[in-house]
Amino acid sequence: MTSIVALLLTAIPTLAADPSAGRGLAFKWCAECHVVANNKVSTDGTPSFAAMAKDYADRPEALKVFLAQPHEPMPPLELSIRQIDDLAAFILAPSLPAK
Ligand code: HEC
Repeated sequence: MTSIVALLLTAIPTLAADPSAGRGLAFKWCAECHVVANNKVSTDGTPSFAAMAKDYADRPEALKVFLAQPHEPMPPLELSIRQIDDLAAFILAPSLPAK
């Protein structure tokens, strides 16, 4: 499953990802659990977006593969490839715009 997703993500020519669309998705769908703005630190161990940016800085494809699958306790969002690209572009942006 993971390898099929990886194949899809790399095989489909990516439209220019839109970090500002990703930012909108992040505040709508991820901020409930994750600290999205880069000036804040998570208190409960859930990785902040800043921590994700660091972890995945040199492997954006791994981040996209991760986002293609639901993670507990995240509800299965079934993100489209476009949304995944936008989210990844936002997460990996060098400096995240504050809310
Ligand atoms: C209901 C809560 C919840 C929501 C909503 C949620 N997450 Fe998570 N997420 C978590 C938790 C908890 C972890 C830590 C899981 C673990 O370490 O096993 C996590 C981990 C992650 C990780 C880190 C994976 C790694 O390598 O450690 C990424 C990336 C991530 N989430 C992205 C997102 C994105 C993007 C969204 C919005 C589309 C989102 N999450 C929505 C709870 C949530």
